Amino acid sequence: MKVLNFGSMNIDYVYKVPHTVARGETVSSLSRETFIGGKGLNQSVAMARAGLDVYHAGAVGQDGKDLVNFLGAAGVNISYVEILENVPTGHTVIQNDLEGDNSILLFSGANRAITPRMVDQVLKDFEQGDLLIFQNEISQLAYLVECAHEKGMTIIFNPSPMDQIIKSLPLEYVDYFFVNEIEAGQLTNLNPMDEKGLIRELPGYFPKARILLTLGARGSYYLEGERVIHQPIYPARVLDTTAAGDTFSGYFIRSIVLGEDIKKGLDLAARAAAITVSRRGAAPSIPFLEEVVDTRDSSQG
Ligand code: RIB
Repeated sequence: MKVLNFGSMNIDYVYKVPHTVARGETVSSLSRETFIGGKGLNQSVAMARAGLDVYHAGAVGQDGKDLVNFLGAAGVNISYVEILENVPTGHTVIQNDLEGDNSILLFSGANRAITPRMVDQVLKDFEQGDLLIFQNEISQLAYLVECAHEKGMTIIFNPSPMDQIIKSLPLEYVDYFFVNEIEAGQLTNLNPMDEKGLIRELPGYFPKARILLTLGARGSYYLEGERVIHQPIYPARVLDTTAAGDTFSGYFIRSIVLGEDIKKGLDLAARAAAITVSRRGAAPSIPFLEEVVDTRDSSQG
């Protein structure tokens, strides 16, 4: 089974702020740092650091070569990443407050310059049973899903950031959804504040799919038909939550690919995410498998 992540690559400009800027307000930031990020890139790095062979497909501008080099150095196959002319690399402006929480403004740039030709060129090398992972930061998603479904690929969708595009996608082809409570609510019209209701009703909306529902400090749930598995978070000193969800996703995909026990997969993913939040930045904060396993070994004895 080959693993393909067709996803975004961003330069993250992270501003430490005393509080998140409100409408009409001007706030002086305390510092600025630049990190390599993008939901797609982060998830590819997490999968590679979790020990998987991963192909990343996506696009940057001429100013994004560092991102491609970073992915390559992380052990991700970058032969499907295009460096485009005349379009800037995607970037974000991230406000990171004193509690470590983030607000993100996204400029898509090259991520939304993905064309049907690029999709065709990548997917021709993948086949039935291979895995496609994608998020909502690139263009041509409907075409990508249609083509992957036609090929019989297993489809994992992280509908983030949530917007109107998502409702127009053929979601019935998705095999796994990775969603938080807000995304789950918007996909279904269920009340995102009603945790029990979400757990009970979500599988009915996507009867074919398995669902990973992440609830921040309240942990996560794996839902598969009647089966419900809860995974609490591991406590950590939170410095920066950026890429915590991506780390969780990437590490959980490891257990899907290796056919490992779901409970073990969730536990490993939660441990990995706890390390990510204790570090600054996106992709560089994602831990290697050995570091994550170490936390398991030390807590066991
Ligand atoms: O999930 C975190 C990522 O979301 C950041 O790295 C940023 O680039 C945005 O895509």
